[in-house]
Amino acid sequence: MSQFPTVRLRRLRQNERLRGLVRETRLSVEQLIYPLFVAEGIDQPSEIASMPGIVQWPLKALPAEAERLARLGIPAVLLFGIPNEKDEVGSQAYAEQGIIQKAIRVFKETAPETLVITDVCLCEYTSHGHCGVIEHGNVLNDASLTLLSRMSLSHVAAGADIVAPSDMMDGRIGTIRKALDEQGFQQTPIMAYSAKFASGFYGPFREAAGSTPQFGDRRSYQMDPANHREALREVEQDIIEGADIVMVKPALAYLDVIRQVRDTCNLPVAAYNVSGEYSMVKAAAQNGWIDEQRVALEILTGIRRAGADMIITYFAPDVATWLKNS
Ligand code: PBG
Repeated sequence: MSQFPTVRLRRLRQNERLRGLVRETRLSVEQLIYPLFVAEGIDQPSEIASMPGIVQWPLKALPAEAERLARLGIPAVLLFGIPNEKDEVGSQAYAEQGIIQKAIRVFKETAPETLVITDVCLCEYTSHGHCGVIEHGNVLNDASLTLLSRMSLSHVAAGADIVAPSDMMDGRIGTIRKALDEQGFQQTPIMAYSAKFASGFYGPFREAAGSTPQFGDRRSYQMDPANHREALREVEQDIIEGADIVMVKPALAYLDVIRQVRDTCNLPVAAYNVSGEYSMVKAAAQNGWIDEQRVALEILTGIRRAGADMIITYFAPDVATWLKNS
């Protein structure tokens, strides 16, 4: 036997054409969802210090941004509202003239083909910053469901194409599905934040959305980062209740969970490349320590390889530009 190898994996790596033919995973702009923060009571886009390149948008600047995203070919946005007034029960979350409802209408008027997905959760709207209603310091599950249904309905009535409950209350998918169906919105899909972990990676988002809990933390409703079997139970339950798309969030420290969800269910799987994952790349790149484009594309490709069909990412416009130029 020759001392030299007959099997040479390097044969297929010799040039970009060959590498392209054998590439197993592709990243394309069609798979990306871009999160946007729309704030009430500001006139100019307001920078978010911990998320370079991401801003809070005033309503009046939204049409130009909606047009830019549509031109870049970004198929969908995930909208977050930041109201002026917060109260115990998050009333602005389901107010007909609330900031999120207005933002949905602006989007559907200026870029009607762009899919508008809305985050359904009370934390940006409650004075205490928790994702549901509070009694004696506890987040009440069933009382919160009623409000989350109202919130979903008001988003859909304003024109939202998909609702994405991110609160992690038990039973929300079934409750919201029923409420939508009863009001004639049988065709509106639900993207469930199914396996949502209590994560330190949401830090920059809480600055962006002004949604830091005023006491305690979210560990009594979001998942323990140590658990993966429980993540599959969350997914299973959301499927039983009528979810159309299931999500794993965050993405980077949870690639194994994405893979397991992909292998155990047949629904489309979304992954959320969250704020802290974005900020880490930005900070290191600004220091000249890593190549931003290369690292961002590598991370997003990794999330796709793990099994995500679609990715929610703050890099979406950059990726659209990079892929266009490559
Ligand atoms: C609302 C919500 C959060 C994120 C999305 N929806 C914050 C949280 O749960 O604390 C985080 C998104 C990100 O970090 O990019 N509950």
